Amino acid sequence: MAHVESVAGAIGKIAGAWTPDRRAAARRAAWLHDAWRNATVEQSVAVIRSAGEEPDPWAFRHAPVLLHAQAAAAWAPTATGEADPEVLLAVRHHPTGHPDWGAVGRALYVADFCEPTRAFAAALQTDRLLERAASGSESLAAVAFEVLALRLRRAIDGNRPIHPDSIRTWNAWVERPERE
Ligand SMILES: [Fe+2]
Ligand SMILES: [Fe+2]
Repeated sequence: MAHVESVAGAIGKIAGAWTPDRRAAARRAAWLHDAWRNATVEQSVAVIRSAGEEPDPWAFRHAPVLLHAQAAAAWAPTATGEADPEVLLAVRHHPTGHPDWGAVGRALYVADFCEPTRAFAAALQTDRLLERAASGSESLAAVAFEVLALRLRRAIDGNRPIHPDSIRTWNAWVERPERE
C-alpha cells in the first residue's frame, strides 16, 4: 500500500501540467494498478476468467506474478466502473510496457519504477528521472524508454525471462521513442 500511495504521488508530479481530466485518469491508473498484487495466482486466474478472458499464456507459463496486472484490468470495469481505455491499457501492461501506450501508460510505467520507496531509488537516482518525466510529453517518452532499458538490463542481469510485450515495446520505442 505504501508503494501504491507513492506511485500515486509520483504520477501526480508527472501529470502536474496535464489537463485535469488526464491527470485524474493517471491517478486512477496508479490507484488501480496493483489492486491484485497480493492475490495468489489462482485468485488472479479466477478473476480473469470471470471477466471472460483467458490468462496471458506467456505470463502463466513463465512469470505468473505478472497476472496481477491482467487481473486488475479485467476486474476494474465491473468492480470500480473504470471505463477509460487508456487507464485500462496502462494497468493491464504496467509490468511489461506496451507499444500502444500514450501518456497515461508511460506515466504509470515511469511512476511505478521511479517512486521513492523502491530499494534502488537512490542508486538509480530515480528522483531525477521523475523530474524529467514531468517536464513534457517528449521527456516523458524519453524517460519511459530509459526505464524500459533499465528494466531489461535488470532482467538480463538477474537471468530472468523477458515478456514478449517488453521486446515489442523496445522495438517500437527504439525507432520512435516520442511516438504518442
Ligand atoms: Fe504491479
Ligand atoms: Fe506497482
